[in-house]
Amino acid sequence: MKFFIDTANLEQIKEAQALGILDGVTTNPSLMAKEGITGEANIINHYKAICEEVDGHVSAEVISTDFEGMVKEGEVLASLNPQIVVKLPMIADGVKACKYFSDKGIKTNVTLVFSAGQALLAAKAGATYVSPFIGRLDDISTDGLNLISEIRLIYDNYMYDTQILAASVRHTMHIIDCAKIGADVMTGPLSAITGLLKHPLTDSGLAKFLADYQKGH
Ligand code: G3P
Repeated sequence: MKFFIDTANLEQIKEAQALGILDGVTTNPSLMAKEGITGEANIINHYKAICEEVDGHVSAEVISTDFEGMVKEGEVLASLNPQIVVKLPMIADGVKACKYFSDKGIKTNVTLVFSAGQALLAAKAGATYVSPFIGRLDDISTDGLNLISEIRLIYDNYMYDTQILAASVRHTMHIIDCAKIGADVMTGPLSAITGLLKHPLTDSGLAKFLADYQKGH
């Protein structure tokens, strides 16, 4: 399972990268705004800075909602660095743009996916990644993990290459459950990733090992 971090915060990206387990980064307009990154030039520079910190794919989302605008923006984003994945919304023009980019060999991530039918369309349009938002489904009393299971089944039935990128991951159990179901990738906050490290028996066991070592010295 690939681990992506879902942030535009360079310090958090560096921290996850330093752990040695980071496979990529996802961003969105809200995450960029949260870091105070505004204006086209600053956003472009920030994507370049993110690409310098990681080896893997970096999803950069278009703002346009029409096909021509998405193509124009996506081509600029894709030209910044081979690591860039053009992130497109799951709307009709986003599906068209996905097909356009996949035909040209440009990597895509279809975002804001909340149903199996939407995920099927993304795969048929040749998406590199599809991003079902599990936390936001949980927020409205709908089982987000069930959507991951449905998409896994459909993609396996037809051997689609599109990778399931479980998004809107909020906590460690989301990561573990996505891994059990067979999501190809998860993207989540640093807290969910580092949360996987924690176990009280690890802490107490280490404390005992060190105390026993000290007794002999
Ligand atoms: O990757 C999608 C993600 O950024 C959405 O997460 O927590 O805003 O639902 P959240």
